[in-house]
Amino acid sequence: MKQVKASISGIEGYVPDYILTNAELETLVDTSDEWIVSRTGIKERRILKEPGLGSSHMGARAVKGLLEKTNTDPAEIDLLICATITPDFVFPSTANLICDQLGIRNIGSFDVNAACSGFVYGLELGAQFIETGKYKKVVVVGTDKMSAVMDYTDRRTCILFGDGAGAVLLEPNTEGYGVIDTLIRADGVGYNNLMQRGGGSRFPATHETVDARMHYLHQDGQQVFKSAVRNMADVSAEMMERNNLTHDDVAWLVPHQANRRIIEATANRMGVGMDKVMMNIAHYGNTTAATIPLCLWDYEKQLKKGDNLIFSAFGAGFTWASAYVKWAY
Ligand code: ACO
Repeated sequence: MKQVKASISGIEGYVPDYILTNAELETLVDTSDEWIVSRTGIKERRILKEPGLGSSHMGARAVKGLLEKTNTDPAEIDLLICATITPDFVFPSTANLICDQLGIRNIGSFDVNAACSGFVYGLELGAQFIETGKYKKVVVVGTDKMSAVMDYTDRRTCILFGDGAGAVLLEPNTEGYGVIDTLIRADGVGYNNLMQRGGGSRFPATHETVDARMHYLHQDGQQVFKSAVRNMADVSAEMMERNNLTHDDVAWLVPHQANRRIIEATANRMGVGMDKVMMNIAHYGNTTAATIPLCLWDYEKQLKKGDNLIFSAFGAGFTWASAYVKWAY
C-alpha cells in the first residue's frame, strides 16, 4: 500500500481592512519610514480595530473562506488546530471559539503556542493525524492579533507587528504530494528575550503589572535577531540535506516574515535566489503564526503541482521549525 501523506488541498487568508502605515507610526513614536524600511522591509501592516474582536474572529474568517473554496461542509472537519500567541482569552482555546463561530461541533480542537513557529508546529501535528489514517480532513489555522500586545509608545517593537490569519486544509494523498518532512525545535534559554511578562500565572494582572507595562510584548531585538538568523538558516539547510534537495530542487522558500534581513540570510544559506522566496512583509509586517499561510495565500496562483516548498520559521521560546511540502495542486 502506498504511503499516506497529508496534502495541503486548500489555503485561505484573512487580513483586517485598517492599514497602519509607517507614516502613521511616525506620528506615534520617534521613527521614520526610512529607518523601518531599511532595517525590516516593512511598509505597512493590517490592524483589527473593531472593539470586542480577537484572534478567533480573523481565524474564523480564514477558515470560513477555506471551507467555501474547497467545497467542504463544516460537518466534514475531523480536527481543528489553531496556532496563536494572542488567544481571545487565556482559556478556553481560540480553536474552540473558531469552531463555535463556524458551527463546527463535536470534534477535537486545541491551540498550539509556539509563537512564530506555531503554524509549522500545527502542520506537523495535523499531518500526523492524517498519516496515521485517524482523520481525513484537518484544518490548521494560524491567527494573531499582535496589535493587542503592542506598546505603541515603544518604537523598538510597535513597528514590527501586524494582525492576520491564514488556514490550510489537510487531506490524505497517496501520490507523493503533501507534507514530506517536518522539523520542530525549541530551546527555552531565550524565553526572556521575547515574551509577554504579565497576565499569566506567574504575574497575574494587577494594577502594578499594568503600570509596569507587562502586558505588552517585550523583545531584546538584537538577541532575537542573532538567534533567528542562525536557527532559521540551520533548520532550512538541515531540511534540504536530509531530503537530498539542492537549491535547484527548491521551487519556493516560504519563510516566516519577521525581518527582510533574516529572510535574505536564510535564502543565502540555502543557496536559493530571492526570486524563489515568498515575501509579503512589506504589506503585513510580522503576523506571528499567520505569516506562512498568508504567504501561501498571496502566492497561490504562482504555485504548481509538484513544486517543492521549504517552510522556515523562528519565534519566541525560542522555537524554530521547518517543513518540506510537495505542493498538491
Ligand atoms: N526607529 C528609529 N530608531 C529605532 C527604532 C525605530 N523604530 N527602533 C530602534 N531604534 C534605534 C535604537 O534605539 C538604537 O538606537 P541607539 O543606538 O541610539 O540605542 C538603534 O536604532 C539600533 O537599534 P537595534 O535594536 O540595534 O536595531 P536593529 O538593527 O537590531 O533592528 C530590529 C531592530 C528590527 C527589531 C531587529 O533587531 C530584529 O528584526 N530583530 C528580530 C525580530 C524577530 O525576528 N522576532 C522574532 C519573531 S517574533 C515572535 O516570535 C512573536
